[in-house]
Amino acid sequence: MRTLISNGTIVTSEGSSVADVLVEGETIALIGADLGGAGITADETIDASGKYVIPGAIDVHTHMELPFGGTFAKDTFETGTRAAAFGGTTTIVDFAVQSRGASLREGLDAWHAKAEGNAVADYGFHMIMSDVNEETLKEMDQLVAEGVPDFKLFTAYPGVFYSDDGAIFRAMQQTAKNGGLIMMHAENGIAIDIVANQTADSGMTDPYYHGVARYSIFEGEATNRVIRLAEAAGVPVYIVHLSSRDALNEVRAARDRGAMAFAETCPQYLFLSLEDMKNGFEGAKFVCSPPLRPKDHWDDLWTGLIKDDLQLVATDHCPFDFEGQKELGRGDFRKVPNGLPGVEDRVDLLHDGGVVGGRITRERWVELISTAPARLFGMYPRKGTVSVGADADLVVYDPNRRRTISAGTHHMDVDYSCYEGREVRGASDVVLSRGSVIVRNGEFTGKKGAGRFIKRSTADAARLA
Ligand code: URP
Ligand code: ZN
Ligand code: ZN
Repeated sequence: MRTLISNGTIVTSEGSSVADVLVEGETIALIGADLGGAGITADETIDASGKYVIPGAIDVHTHMELPFGGTFAKDTFETGTRAAAFGGTTTIVDFAVQSRGASLREGLDAWHAKAEGNAVADYGFHMIMSDVNEETLKEMDQLVAEGVPDFKLFTAYPGVFYSDDGAIFRAMQQTAKNGGLIMMHAENGIAIDIVANQTADSGMTDPYYHGVARYSIFEGEATNRVIRLAEAAGVPVYIVHLSSRDALNEVRAARDRGAMAFAETCPQYLFLSLEDMKNGFEGAKFVCSPPLRPKDHWDDLWTGLIKDDLQLVATDHCPFDFEGQKELGRGDFRKVPNGLPGVEDRVDLLHDGGVVGGRITRERWVELISTAPARLFGMYPRKGTVSVGADADLVVYDPNRRRTISAGTHHMDVDYSCYEGREVRGASDVVLSRGSVIVRNGEFTGKKGAGRFIKRSTADAARLA
């Protein structure tokens, strides 16, 4: 099958130019001006005049079917990757979970079973480590060899995913040897639980107090601590879902002194705020960790994205229905399952708030949503760019189309949207995954099970940067 995408403005992290793209099978075969005029024929031609042609976006932080707070994140690999595709995201990297007492292998196998035969677009895995011991340390090396080279540990959620400093340092020492990457959820969970318990005990039980109790200074402290541990181990460290200027200041200071510190933020920390949590129990829709922050953190995070102290934007997609799931925390914010839906909206929110909003160039937008994730997570140049030989994961993107975000029209399997009623400019018209059109003008044309596991290489980009 040969597909010609004609006359679009190809936007990569490096620059933009009007050209045609010839897709042959699963990869990009040729890029050039007026390929049709030069005698190149195709089975199908997609007219991209007036549109961008960008590399399929990559979301390196999702949680399909994550067990949390006595329930499971609602999207499956089928519904989650389909929703992602509608939003221009053609690859996700999801977090497999090692349950306490089980092996990494059991956790990884369970996640392969969830995804295989179900995902409509490509996927990879990171591994959440709940126990660090001699067996799991050895298993880390094996996972790196199998294309799962990143390990998430937590200074938050005592009694659930929490690891102490010794365990974190030990895991970092292992990645110093095996080339893997430690990803950190950096909030001081021990201190947070003290404040959260005091807050709830004094009768403040609304979801809003989830946001109040998780001080941003606790995020800054933990961010500094884990970066220092990584410096001691001589390895890169990646801070997930960075939400506050306190944490950003620590990442910037570390990078300024030459530390191999990297971080992502998420749309919810750029477009939503603590104010959104104020509406009684409705605030449960916005319960996530780290929590939403006061609006005055937004500009700092945008500056971080502009100056590359934050390297990319991921979603931390972890959807729970309001009805029946978020409701588990009625009367006690500590019992609301933590997480927000967002895999479908990241590309458009970033385009609207970033490019249309005049904060970043369209090239930086592509870098934040696709190229940097591919580079830092071992998929470049197979993914994350538009170049000959790369996977034909491509999006024909209309930078002028306006759409209104709503649970009534989104494709995520969750009963609310955090951005209900928000109008954004920019939307995906046609989405290709390895050469196949999987979304065209609002219709899904892909296939359940067509997504493949992406065996990723180690984070050399992180070590070199
Ligand atoms: O609230 C969140 N972020 N839920 C998902 C789990 C995590 O910590 O990433
Ligand atoms: Zn986390
Ligand atoms: Zn997460």
